Amino acid sequence: MPIANGFLTEDEFENEFFYNLAVGYCYDCEMVQLAELVPPEKLFTDKYPFFTSSSRNMIKHFAEMAEWIAIDLTPGAIKRPLVVELGCNDGTLLTELRAYPEIRTLGIEPSTNVAEIAIINGHNVVTEFFTEGTAQGIVEEYGQADVIVATNTMCHIPDLHEVFKGFQVLLKPDGYIVFEDPYWYAITAQTSFDQIYDEHVYYFTVKAVDDLASKYCFELVDVLPQAVHGGAMRYVLGFNKQHRPTSRFRYMHWMETKMDWDNKVNGDTFYQAAIYQGLDLAMSLVNMVRKDGKRVVGYGATSKSTTILNAAGIAPNILPYIYDTTPQKQGKFTPGTHIPIRPYKEFKDDDPDYVLLLIWNHAEEVLAKEQEYIAKGGKFLTHVPYVRIMDTS
Ligand code: TYD
Repeated sequence: MPIANGFLTEDEFENEFFYNLAVGYCYDCEMVQLAELVPPEKLFTDKYPFFTSSSRNMIKHFAEMAEWIAIDLTPGAIKRPLVVELGCNDGTLLTELRAYPEIRTLGIEPSTNVAEIAIINGHNVVTEFFTEGTAQGIVEEYGQADVIVATNTMCHIPDLHEVFKGFQVLLKPDGYIVFEDPYWYAITAQTSFDQIYDEHVYYFTVKAVDDLASKYCFELVDVLPQAVHGGAMRYVLGFNKQHRPTSRFRYMHWMETKMDWDNKVNGDTFYQAAIYQGLDLAMSLVNMVRKDGKRVVGYGATSKSTTILNAAGIAPNILPYIYDTTPQKQGKFTPGTHIPIRPYKEFKDDDPDYVLLLIWNHAEEVLAKEQEYIAKGGKFLTHVPYVRIMDTS
């Protein structure tokens, strides 16, 4: 596989970087994770092209999360609570937290181009990877944190042990750690295997997070399923014995054990379904284009699409271009498959027979936005949870 967010120019084709994408499961700590890693310096650079604020639904999600942090995790009794966000990206959550002026915030973001946007928007940001050393520096300057939050960030960090050591230094004794990431059982349940790519080192489960937390004197207090990213889980942790674990946490723990028994989860079923899904998508596109003479274009040049397009071998001969709203991707080509990326604003004047919805996780938002295209008879093709023309009636 090429680098999932490695959108490139034509002159970069020749020296494109490839690695072996494989997933492993540890029978000891129960973690599902990548077997081979791309060095983070190759991924989170000054050209990192993902901006949290590119989705309206995500902004809404962060507004709700900010309210939850303010009301549930930093109640009035705490004076000027400090919320530190790991991987704050362009500062979307930090901005939503401004609605609660009592809260002090600090972002940590190693990708300097996205961090710059947060800084321009007036946020305090440390542009480094989070380590025990970074945590010590923060404590000296700002004091310990009441809440440490990380959304779709923890699964990107290869050395989680270093991060947990940092948590031990940074978190107040009765504070909370909150993180949410794509949930492994949501991926297996809907065969969204395109969530598997270089940046997603870990595919967390309640059991694996519980095991990891216990190694650092933390315990899982709560787990809250989220609809974002095609099914994510929010984990709430605290130092041992500071908070009472909820019955929801115990239930999810039990459910996961049951699912393992039912599906032999880390066994064959999911992988067979994944292979079938890739083949089915490629064959459907070939039939539409070659047999029926239809025109299909892509919608959303995402990191996920790098996995599905490369796994299914979908090249410009069957998908000539993809529309995307991110200016940094426009005019470039998709990693590995080299499909041109066009500015989204040109979509309105195009009239393709089908649109391949590569951002299936934003389906609701996209279908609401594209009512005009649908009214003209336009159709959306997608591959999650299985390959089909979407019912937009
Ligand atoms: P996302 O699924 O969040 O990305 P990833 O798989 O990389 O985590 O999608 C973000 C990309 O989708 C970003 O390049 C912007 C693009 N996009 C559109 O082009 N149109 C849209 O309506 C939305 C919501 C996103």
